[in-house]
Amino acid sequence: MELHQKRIVITGGGSGIGLAMALALAAEGAQVVITGRGKAKLAEAASKHANISAYVCDVTDEAAVVALRDAMDAAGGTDLLVNNAGVMHRFDVTQGFPLEKQLQEIAIDVSGPVRLVHHFLPQMLQRASVIVNVSSGLAYVPYAAAPIYSASKAFLHTYTQSLRAQLAGTSVRVVELLPPVVDTEMAAELDPSFARMAPEKLVAAFIKGLKNNVDEITPGQSAQLKLMSRLAPGFIFQQLNKNPWG
Ligand SMILES: NC(=O)c1ccc[n+]([C@@H]2O[C@H](COP(=O)([O-])OP(=O)(O)OC[C@H]3O[C@@H](n4cnc5c(N)ncnc54)[C@H](OP(=O)(O)O)[C@@H]3O)[C@@H](O)[C@H]2O)c1
Repeated sequence: MELHQKRIVITGGGSGIGLAMALALAAEGAQVVITGRGKAKLAEAASKHANISAYVCDVTDEAAVVALRDAMDAAGGTDLLVNNAGVMHRFDVTQGFPLEKQLQEIAIDVSGPVRLVHHFLPQMLQRASVIVNVSSGLAYVPYAAAPIYSASKAFLHTYTQSLRAQLAGTSVRVVELLPPVVDTEMAAELDPSFARMAPEKLVAAFIKGLKNNVDEITPGQSAQLKLMSRLAPGFIFQQLNKNPWG
């Protein structure tokens, strides 16, 4: 896929993996719109490259997502939609972690991508375009300390498979990026023994996969999680969850 002058939206593009993606895609000559909730954070991120612009949009806010879609349409449409925004809560279910936070996690990690796809798809069906859903290696093997997050990523994985099957033969290609543990703010509270991939390395693998028409991009340990979840699911679950609160 040629990225030069493509029009790209990256949700949650103001930090971490989304920002690393935005910078790499902008360097390829794409026009990238990054979204998120924090205006100042987005503006600072957008100032890092002339091809990046900021748009405040919470993926749980229906009206804001429709306005984002309309703004993209008015400016010429969307070639690549990256559903990257996400949050992760680690919590012990016996300790009364607030239900509101658990449901908000589902609203962002599950309903968010569904909402973006729903509103962007009609326009994307009119042109050669790509939807990228950023799930996780944890879509293959759940991390018990983050129960809602792991389930959300498993949802996104099978949702993406169904989308891809339904959209085969249309102008819309569907790609899933399943990162391993990546060195961002999100990973800061994870078990320090987990190896962390640099965001730039993840993004290089993502762009290579995108250009080579790979449907499921599984950099680093995500490839092992995929394989082991089929060969020895009980063993890999135990290994991953050896030290859940570490
Ligand atoms: N880091 C890892 O180890 C890892 C591994 C596998 C998968 N992933 C996935 O990769 C994606 C990016 O994660 P990351 O590591 O880059 O995390 P991050 O650094 O915490 O970035 C997440 C981004 O999402 C945005 N966001 C959160 N809630 C949002 C909402 N309601 N609406 C719009 N934007 C929202 C945040 O900005 P605001 O708070 O300003 O809105 C932030 O910019 C996530 O989907 C995550 O699940 C990460």
